[in-house]
This record gives sequence, structure tokens and C-alpha cells, in this order.
Amino acid sequence: MAYTLPANALALAPMVGLSHRALRALVEEFGGCDLHYTEMSSAPGYISGAPYDAWFLDALPAPERTVLQFYGPDAPRLGEAVAKSNALPALGVDVNFGCSAPHIVASGGGVAWMKDPAGAAGLVKAARDNLAPGRTLSAKTRAGYEDDYGKLLEFARALEEAGLDWLVLHPRTKAQKFKRSPKRELAKRLSEDLGIPVLLNGDVRRFEDWAHAREAYAPAGVMLGREAARRPWVFALFRGLERDAGFELSVELEATALRFLDLVEEYLPPEFHETRAKRFFHYYCDNVRFAHHFRTAVMNAAGLAGVRVAVRDYFREVPADRIKLENS
Ligand SMILES: Cc1cc2nc3c(=O)[nH]c(=O)nc-3n(C[C@H](O)[C@H](O)[C@H](O)COP(=O)(O)O)c2cc1C
Repeated sequence: MAYTLPANALALAPMVGLSHRALRALVEEFGGCDLHYTEMSSAPGYISGAPYDAWFLDALPAPERTVLQFYGPDAPRLGEAVAKSNALPALGVDVNFGCSAPHIVASGGGVAWMKDPAGAAGLVKAARDNLAPGRTLSAKTRAGYEDDYGKLLEFARALEEAGLDWLVLHPRTKAQKFKRSPKRELAKRLSEDLGIPVLLNGDVRRFEDWAHAREAYAPAGVMLGREAARRPWVFALFRGLERDAGFELSVELEATALRFLDLVEEYLPPEFHETRAKRFFHYYCDNVRFAHHFRTAVMNAAGLAGVRVAVRDYFREVPADRIKLENS
């Protein structure tokens, strides 16, 4: 049965150290989202049995809505990784053409492929040829090395022709990393020029951002990254506000923080506990009045137990922050 992207899809972005089973479980407890992405995994690492891929590629608790993301330096090894991943529960596979982290680019992965549309298309074709029937194939990309729509279109068309089901665009150039505003009109132009759906990603934080992005650029869907770590209830909130402009969500910040830590303990290996907790709280602390104070306490804490103490201490000191009323 062929999969169809839900209309007006809301997706959780792939994020190293953040888009793991514990965050997905928390998002699902608030009501979920249409599509999840795992953090990226190295194709060569996965086929050679790298130790942590069982966690990176764990698509639970919603494998039927979760895409496994790979990056790779060549088509044969990406194809082999995709073939191996067919045995894992998941909706499908995504190829990372957007990561601009220096070690990924240096290894010939991520955004480095945007300089080589034919090579990137070769990766997509290898993925398609090795993907089990019924599994989806997407790619996530940036605007490119430079601000040049012609080159972006050439790249995206090559991927489409190689067998992509949909494309996710984070419309910043490689050099911009997270600076400057994403150039969202590129998603609109790509949607018009391609025959496949285009999802828009980048800096969508408030309901107004989402509503504006949809109205102005009409993407097939919107992907949220950092805001989902800041507010794991953001998808539920957006859907609520879409139904009823007066919708409000009362969030228990302390209980949610502690629940996240329980999920980290339950679903991630002990070596990941402290780093994953700290990466999440880097964003989550923005929900409270004394964010800097809270963040410093968490970052100085030792182990999951220390982070739990920092959470309890903060809300004991500032009990008024325990409940946050969300309406935008
Ligand atoms: C900590 C972190 C890790 C990321 N890891 C990945 C990744 O593994 N794969 C990927 O395609 N993008 C990755 N990204 C980029 C995000 O998926 C997304 O494109 C970017 O954060 C912009 O969306 P946002 O403004 O909603 O956060 C990462 C971003 C962050 C902040």
C-alpha cells in the first residue's frame, strides 16, 4: 500500500542528540505529530555494526510514522545501509543532504553533496533500488552553497528523477548555518517547480509562524526542530489552535521535565543519559522565568540523578513556574 503524506503535515526534525526515542515518546504522550525523523546515522558506520546504531535507528514508539535518516559518502554504502535497514520497523528512509557540520562535510556527507547533483542523485537511486517496497524515500537539504535558485532546482530535480517521494528544505545556505532568516520563498518555488511534495523547515516557533508559513509559501508540510525540544507539546498546541483560536494548553513544566528524564533512562543507553538530558534542557529551560539560572544548574549537574535534583530544586525555588499556559 503506497503511503501518502498527510495533508498539511507537521514533522519533528532529525536532530543529533535530540531526536531519539525518549523525545518522540514525550511528543507522542502530548498527542504526537504526523512524521518523526531519527537523528542521522552514518551509512558506513551502520553497515559495519557501529555500537550505537540500535539507538540512533530506534523508530519506536511510532515506527509507522518515523523515518530513519542516513548520511553517506557514496552510493554503494548508502544502498547497503538502506537494504540492511529494511529489517527495522520504520516508515522509510531519508538521505541527509543538509548537514553542514565540518566533520560530516569533510567525510563527504551532508551538504557536500549539493555541489554534485549527479552524485547525490546516485545516492537517491541506490537508496530507492535497495528500499523494501512500500517504504518511503525522502531527502533533507539546505538552500545550497550559495544563494542560487537555479542550482537548488537543478539539485532537487535530480533527486526527484532518481526516485524521491518528498523533499524537506531548510532554506539557508551552507555558510548561514543557523544565521539570518531562512529564505522560505524557496520552498514555494520548489513546490511549484517539482512534482513531489516539499516540506518547509527552519525557525518555526509560534503558531503565528506556522500559520504564516502555510499561507505565504503553501508547503506540503512543516518540520519543526529546536522548538520541539523547547516545547514537546508544540504539535498538540498547533493542532489545538488550528481547530479553535481560543485553545489553551496548561503544561506542567516540572512534571514534563521529570517525565523526559524517566524516558531517557528507560529508552537510551546509560552512556547517553547525561549528554542527552543536557542537550534537551539547553532548549527546555527557555520555558521558565529564570532560564539562565536553571540552565546553569542543569549543565553543572552530574548524571541523570544530578539533573533530576536540579529540576526539583528549580521548581521548589520558583513554584509559580510549575504550570505554563500555552496559547501561541
Ligand atoms: C542539535 C541539532 C542537531 C541536528 N541534527 C540534524 C541531523 O541529524 N540531520 C539533519 O538533517 N538535520 C539536523 N539538524 C538540523 C535540523 O533538522 C533543522 O533543519 C534545523 O534545526 C532548523 O530547524 P528549526 O529552526 O526548526 O530548529 C540539527 C539541528 C540541531 C539544532
